Amino acid sequence: MKNKILLVDNDRDFLEATAILLESDGYDVVRASNGQEGFQRAKEESPDLILLDMMMTYKTEGAEMAKALAADAATHNIPLILITGAKKEMGFPFEIKPDEKDLPVKMVIEKPIQPERLLSTVKLFIKKTGLEHRSFVGEIDALVDKWSGKDGNLIMILHEIQNHYGYVPREAAFELRRLLGIPLARIYEVITFYNYFKLDPPGKHLISVCMGTACYLKGAPGLLSELKNLLNVEEGQTTPDGLFHLQIVRCLGCCGLAPVMTVDGKIYGKVKKENVINILSEYSKEKMEVVQ
Ligand code: FES
Repeated sequence: MKNKILLVDNDRDFLEATAILLESDGYDVVRASNGQEGFQRAKEESPDLILLDMMMTYKTEGAEMAKALAADAATHNIPLILITGAKKEMGFPFEIKPDEKDLPVKMVIEKPIQPERLLSTVKLFIKKTGLEHRSFVGEIDALVDKWSGKDGNLIMILHEIQNHYGYVPREAAFELRRLLGIPLARIYEVITFYNYFKLDPPGKHLISVCMGTACYLKGAPGLLSELKNLLNVEEGQTTPDGLFHLQIVRCLGCCGLAPVMTVDGKIYGKVKKENVINILSEYSKEKMEVVQ
């Protein structure tokens, strides 16, 4: 199966020349000439990578499209590379660089770009994402086969995918759309309705904070906010380094130890806010040892 690249640019000559270059290197190229069309094609085609122009109908159209893709559950994991001539052609006085909030792309490349550099950059990103994409196909096929023709099979298949991978990968949702013939919007409606389903890979260590009544009254909200501050994540999120995932749970059945938190199932009882950092360091230590 060929890796798929979505190319979005309103400069028809650049679009065609770049598409031909990528196709000659073995990629399947989907073309779009503006941000709106690009966003639609990204949702329909599930590309492995998106190459996006910054200035199209208006100066920041590429940035707006990048933000829309980052905010959409179906597309937020697709890597984006911004290709722009803004600095040279328009004399932008500042450097255009990736920014999590205003320009959520992996990389910015200035035009004109050498064909060899474009191909080697694309190869690097495809290596990280495309191989993973292909490996899903056979596994998802097997799950769909197992539940084919049974009532409520979408939820059961999503459960199996969640159990298998620890989350529902974007590629899996697209495969389900293809194999079951269910609209993608319906699949994401189900995924986002149930807290159980996650759209991002789980962290290495799972932190659960009990917010049952006893724990709540004994200070669990304080523990939770300390964890959020230290890890810089909200509940339901994973730290950017993938080390911790933070979640809230209801009564863990050991109310006498309230407030209670667990890390990978290990119970910490009567936890004080000031002890949280020591608990985390037990788990981040192993990471430091690997890095050194
Ligand atoms: S309420 Fe937290 S363990 Fe019961």
